[in-house]
Amino acid sequence: MKIFAHRGASGEAPENTLAAFRLALDQGCEAIELDLQRWHDDILVLHDRWLHHSTSGQGLLENQSSDALAQVDAGDGQPIPRLWEVLELCAGRCQLNLELKAHDLLPVLLPLLDRAVTELGWQPEDLLISSFHHRQLAAFQAMKPDWPIGLLISHIPLELAPMLGPLKVFSLHLDCAFVDRALVEEAQRLGLKVYSYTADEPEDLHRLALLGVDGIFTNYPARSREWLLSHIT
Ligand code: G3P
Ligand code: MG
Repeated sequence: MKIFAHRGASGEAPENTLAAFRLALDQGCEAIELDLQRWHDDILVLHDRWLHHSTSGQGLLENQSSDALAQVDAGDGQPIPRLWEVLELCAGRCQLNLELKAHDLLPVLLPLLDRAVTELGWQPEDLLISSFHHRQLAAFQAMKPDWPIGLLISHIPLELAPMLGPLKVFSLHLDCAFVDRALVEEAQRLGLKVYSYTADEPEDLHRLALLGVDGIFTNYPARSREWLLSHIT
């Protein structure tokens, strides 16, 4: 089962910071999930567009000056990282799942991804782009048809195939509170990988393993991997 360090090893280091990504790498993680927000002509790694959710800052990210942003503490003195810094840190070391948290990321993200390929040696198959914003994923796929996309949902749709529409979807990312066998089987029958978020507790890890999901997002990647290795054959 693939284990994604959710916002990095965010149970043990401040979420979505280089410290959390370094810790995930040190723990031997094969994949890291991170959240993307747009800030002018750059992309930053942050879950929420309101700073107070996870940092010492206040107000909307888009309203911050670069001086104000430089003062923001995302935890343990860590700054809010730029996506490019994470791409540099992780190149050749793990896969990344970039979750698009804003509606207007593509004009900035697409050139950045091109640079990641040419300058850092990233392969598209190691950069899974996901979002709850399926229309943005469709626009992304229209421009980058060979890149994998992951459809995030927090609900259980009446039928899966109509929701996918014309998209060529690599993976379905499901809320672990709702995921059930019927949906896992339906998705896998359609050729999709099934990844479920966010599982930290043994009961959830156990249930997801029994359901046969292909991967999980966890805030404690080392501990969750250890638990799965020792309890699931
Ligand atoms: O990408 C999986 C998961 O991160 C989606 O929800 O709110 O934790 O970004 P959230
Ligand atoms: Mg996320």
